[in-house]
Amino acid sequence: MEKKVYNFNPGPAVLPKPVLEQVQAELLDFNGTGMSILEISHRSKAYEGVHMEAEARMKKLLNLGDDYRCLFLQGGASGQFAMIPMNFLAPGRTADYLLTGSWSQKAYKEAARQGNVHIAASTEGDNFNRIPSPDEITFSSNPVYAHLTSNNTIMGTQWQDFPECGEIPLMADMSSDILSRPFAAKKFALIYAGAQKNLGPAGVTVVVIKNSLLEQIREDVPIIFNYKTHADNNSLYNTPPVFAIYIVNLVLKWIEDSGGLAAIEAQNREKAALIYKEIDESGGFYRGHAQKDSRSLMNITFRLPNPDLEKKFVEESTANGLIGLKGHRSVGGMRASLYNAMTLEGAKTLAAFMREFREKNS
Ligand SMILES: Cc1ncc(COP(=O)(O)O)c(C=O)c1O
Repeated sequence: MEKKVYNFNPGPAVLPKPVLEQVQAELLDFNGTGMSILEISHRSKAYEGVHMEAEARMKKLLNLGDDYRCLFLQGGASGQFAMIPMNFLAPGRTADYLLTGSWSQKAYKEAARQGNVHIAASTEGDNFNRIPSPDEITFSSNPVYAHLTSNNTIMGTQWQDFPECGEIPLMADMSSDILSRPFAAKKFALIYAGAQKNLGPAGVTVVVIKNSLLEQIREDVPIIFNYKTHADNNSLYNTPPVFAIYIVNLVLKWIEDSGGLAAIEAQNREKAALIYKEIDESGGFYRGHAQKDSRSLMNITFRLPNPDLEKKFVEESTANGLIGLKGHRSVGGMRASLYNAMTLEGAKTLAAFMREFREKNS
């Protein structure tokens, strides 16, 4: 019998069960080809349909029209840390970075290796436990772009409202909250996400880019790292990660079938509220890392009264089938990742476990 666990891993993470079942059902014979999707050409008709459908679905869910492209690249979100400045940070220009955690710092460091960078805001002084307020943000005079991380996977904070940037092209790493809520994607010139949290398996990086940006790419970019190469070739310039894109397409369909982003957000809010309630009503037994107005719906970070209890929490939760709750070493404590595919039942089970653990150990 299948082992019943709830997977709270931060990524790669839980995938929707109906998606995995469909993958399993058609693994040996994709779409009547008599071959697995793992075995067919990326230029075959059978695959082409999947590929184009995935781009169309992504744009539709983000409410974007013909002025945007959705690309399927490799190299992870970390690859985008380097590729963005490679394409846009021309000599003499400055790129602005909003620092809200380790991932945005990594993006900033990659850009700093390539050109002028400016820190438009940073909450490092508060151990990245919050998102900066609008009056803490100071853009440089004419930045080539501004970059932020919409959800800080390690810290457990999330932008609730995105900053007003005027004419500055806004770019965002949305690896850990893409398609978790409706938002004005049109505010962004570029959005990217490693797939392995909310979109599918590791191996594909989704990049949503405004067409007008494709005209502003530096001349000296290697062909393979040039966004235009991939846009002009529908992300088929070279062999794309076919299996990963196929699963992303199924996950996008699952989001549509679940009622779209508004329904997904409602469920995400309900799940997160159950866990934050346990923290807030624990009389200080559980201490959240994020300040309340910056709390993430995707990654919930919290400490226990001492390291021994934290160790015990990890051991007992794991023994109870609640997997992946140990926090990142830089924050310590626990982290519950509640991506789209985590069920309400999973969140309820974790909340009940937290309550029982507190009652037994306080
Ligand atoms: C917000 C964020 N950005 C970037 C990354 C790095 O992604 P990748 O491993 O795809 O390079 C992660 C991975 O956890 C992340 O959470």
